[in-house]
Amino acid sequence: MRKKIIAGNWKMNKTITEALDLVRALTLGLKDVKDVDIVVCPVFTALHSVHQAIDGSNIMLGAQNLFWEEKGAFTGEISAPMLKDTHCEYVIIGHSERRTIFKETNEQVNRKIKAALKAGLLPIVCVGERLEERENNRTFDVIKDHVHGALEGLSADNLANIIIAYEPVWAIGTGRTATPAQAQEVHAFIRGLIRDAFGADAGQRLRIQYGGSVTPENIASLSAQPDIDGALVGGASLKAESFIQLVKLSSST
Ligand code: 13P
Repeated sequence: MRKKIIAGNWKMNKTITEALDLVRALTLGLKDVKDVDIVVCPVFTALHSVHQAIDGSNIMLGAQNLFWEEKGAFTGEISAPMLKDTHCEYVIIGHSERRTIFKETNEQVNRKIKAALKAGLLPIVCVGERLEERENNRTFDVIKDHVHGALEGLSADNLANIIIAYEPVWAIGTGRTATPAQAQEVHAFIRGLIRDAFGADAGQRLRIQYGGSVTPENIASLSAQPDIDGALVGGASLKAESFIQLVKLSSST
């Protein structure tokens, strides 16, 4: 049985003060939840303060990106060991906003995943098709390309420390969620790719989150699907009430 994992991707939102207000409410509201892994991913500047606020609670810390080198002349970048230094346990890699706006490639995503694993961080690897790709029946080709590109050179053991997030680009921030059936179809496909490449155990163990307009209204039907193991949540993770509700609804399924 795979434990569900709900992660809040705050994207470029919240000052330190705002972040602390939110996580204080979350630690109170979620303190009794045991059967779901709960992660918040604030901006870099809030990681240290948020860590102090959630330390000792059941909420874990994640970052939204990293650079693959450990240190050196890379102005503006943050490395995996630096994220460990702020007590991050997770890191989102290859989000569609990074692929689109910052032109991240599969190769770069792959290097970032390897750097994260080397530092002992658990990467949440994002994959997903754009609307025109879905409309042209290219969804499975794109997913295959993202998954194989991201995981190139990794071992079955590595897979035990990786989470994949299926985030159809057309569902992100649009209010247009994939239906549970649409999401399940792609999740099952991803699990099959992992099984083929890394063996039955790795496929069975892998946790696959869904992301894209997840709300308290749709989380239960999504997480009831056999291959959906939680969610990567944007907008609805920015308010304590909706994130608390969402985590609790995912745990009851
Ligand atoms: P929304 O939940 O706002 O659609 O964002 C999803 C997302 O991109 C999470 O990484």
